[in-house]
Amino acid sequence: MANTFLVPKKIISGKDAMHAAAPYLCGSGRKPLIVTDPTMIELGNLAKLTDQLDTEYAVWSGIEHEPDDVMIKQGAVEYQQNACDSLIALGGGSAIDSMKAIGLMIHQDHPLSYFMGKQIQCTMPHMCAIPTTAGTGSEATKFTIINDTSSKVKMLLSGECLMPDLAVIDPQFTMTAPKSVTAATGIDALCHCTEAYTSRRSQPLSDTFALSAAKRIFANLRTCYEEPDNENARIQMSLAAAEAGISFNNSSVTIVHGMSRPIGALFHIAHGLSNAILLEECMRFVADGAYDRFGAMSRALGFSTSKDDKEASEAFLAEEAQMLKDLHIPSMSQLGIDRKIYEENIPKMARDAFASGSPSNTIKDIRVEDMENLYRQIYR
Ligand SMILES: [Fe+2]
Repeated sequence: MANTFLVPKKIISGKDAMHAAAPYLCGSGRKPLIVTDPTMIELGNLAKLTDQLDTEYAVWSGIEHEPDDVMIKQGAVEYQQNACDSLIALGGGSAIDSMKAIGLMIHQDHPLSYFMGKQIQCTMPHMCAIPTTAGTGSEATKFTIINDTSSKVKMLLSGECLMPDLAVIDPQFTMTAPKSVTAATGIDALCHCTEAYTSRRSQPLSDTFALSAAKRIFANLRTCYEEPDNENARIQMSLAAAEAGISFNNSSVTIVHGMSRPIGALFHIAHGLSNAILLEECMRFVADGAYDRFGAMSRALGFSTSKDDKEASEAFLAEEAQMLKDLHIPSMSQLGIDRKIYEENIPKMARDAFASGSPSNTIKDIRVEDMENLYRQIYR
């Protein structure tokens, strides 16, 4: 079977990437809308971007939580009122996802929910993504995730036109991420590459990126968490996040992301955190459907030399569980989620997870009841 492999047109990465990217930030555009959040302004990160621009620009810093359809409409209005002709996102996954959805909204009248489940085809303005966390990989994917405020569903929107033209991966921006954000976003990246490698839709090139990302994450995420100023570890994690993004963009995410979105939509837990809460139990549940893949990953990462796939898989799962412990991922109860309300919502969450299509990319067949059980198990 033939495979398609998609990456951003240009990736500028490493130390001083922001400076090196200056001539390319708005393509042939003359007035970009910068999509960002108030913290980027406070931290001085916006100034580091605007210092590189020799064009006019407008700033919309309306990203105050994970994006929803109402926010995106506001962003599209800002773009039009300021007569912008290109987009730059500076921030975490929320800013980059918002940029993509704003680009989608400016030339058509359908609500965003119209595009759910479709392969979106549209003409987009030039899009430049500058991630300030190492995790979502949105700078290198054709996806955006937007909350629908009326249905309370996190919509997964997909289309090649949503791939940024330029990704600027400059680790200077990730140095200011708080420890909890470093942990949650880093685990998001770990989910991306693990899910991509153990997906039914994996392909040789996505495997290459998934394994490389996983190697960098296991070697550097704990260091970023313990030593936030360690520049080399931050560089490695920034690259890992992009690689992991490329891997799932050309394979898919599976059960963890499928089950994570409904938790985020209903309980407003950050994406990386709900992934982190799900990761161990979900991977333990699906491993027996894909011992060969988990085993191969384990050997490639140096966690096992066993030729027995089941044994090698166990070594991988143990390393993954240790990583979660080392990063002090909080439990649902520690996050203040009421158990009764959570349990009442399990049937809806399992249905919404199934409907998203992601769980069925898992090699093991997943039923709605399996996910209901997993949702019960992860509450601690
Ligand atoms: Fe993710």
